[in-house]
Amino acid sequence: MGLDLHVRDATRADLPAVVDIYNQSIPGGWSTADTAPVSVESREGWFAQFDPARRPLWVAEEDGRIIAWVGLTSFYAGRPAYAATAEVSTYVATAHHRRGVGLFLKRRMIEHCPRLGVTTLVSMHFDHNEATRRMNARLGFEPAGHLPEIAVVGGARRGLLISLLRIPPAEG
Ligand SMILES: CC(C)(COP(=O)(O)OP(=O)(O)OC[C@H]1O[C@@H](n2cnc3c(N)ncnc32)[C@H](O)[C@@H]1OP(=O)(O)O)[C@@H](O)C(=O)NCCC(=O)NCCS
Repeated sequence: MGLDLHVRDATRADLPAVVDIYNQSIPGGWSTADTAPVSVESREGWFAQFDPARRPLWVAEEDGRIIAWVGLTSFYAGRPAYAATAEVSTYVATAHHRRGVGLFLKRRMIEHCPRLGVTTLVSMHFDHNEATRRMNARLGFEPAGHLPEIAVVGGARRGLLISLLRIPPAEG
């Protein structure tokens, strides 16, 4: 049961699909600090910060439909000392969870990091987000911090886990 995904840089035309996949994760209450669906308009600025050469946003298509995305954003507001550090976010459409799509896409982005000049990836997620915790463990992320009970999601206090992955720089 192999995956046949076409992975490419996202374009502005993909933003509605990217936002839709993001919104699918909100009701579960274990993925994002947003508690209500976001609009495409509200994500224009977020989308504009991506850059295929340094901080890509990729979409994964299956049979011509976007079913997942992975993106890198600059860490700590992009201050210069963090130039080689990026935060990674991975979202898979709910109907396609647990098929290995998230693992495949995140691994592909990790492999690409040397070409982006990224040597440290940061993953931040709620401490009850078991899927991301397991995915990160498979990919070699190391737990680096836990901020207990700093969010309230659906009335429950949730903590934030921070994990790091070190990536050898490109040679030459
Ligand atoms: C996190 C997410 C990207 C994982 O994608 P996925 O394609 O469903 O995951 P995979 O099929 O590649 O599985 C990766 C690992 O997570 C585990 N996993 C996946 N969903 C799980 C779940 N609901 N509960 C427990 N473990 C789960 C898998 O078993 C696998 O671990 P294993 O190899 O040790 O068995 C997906 O659940 C998602 O989009 N969630 C909403 C968005 C989110 O939370 N993003 C992270 C914040 S940036």
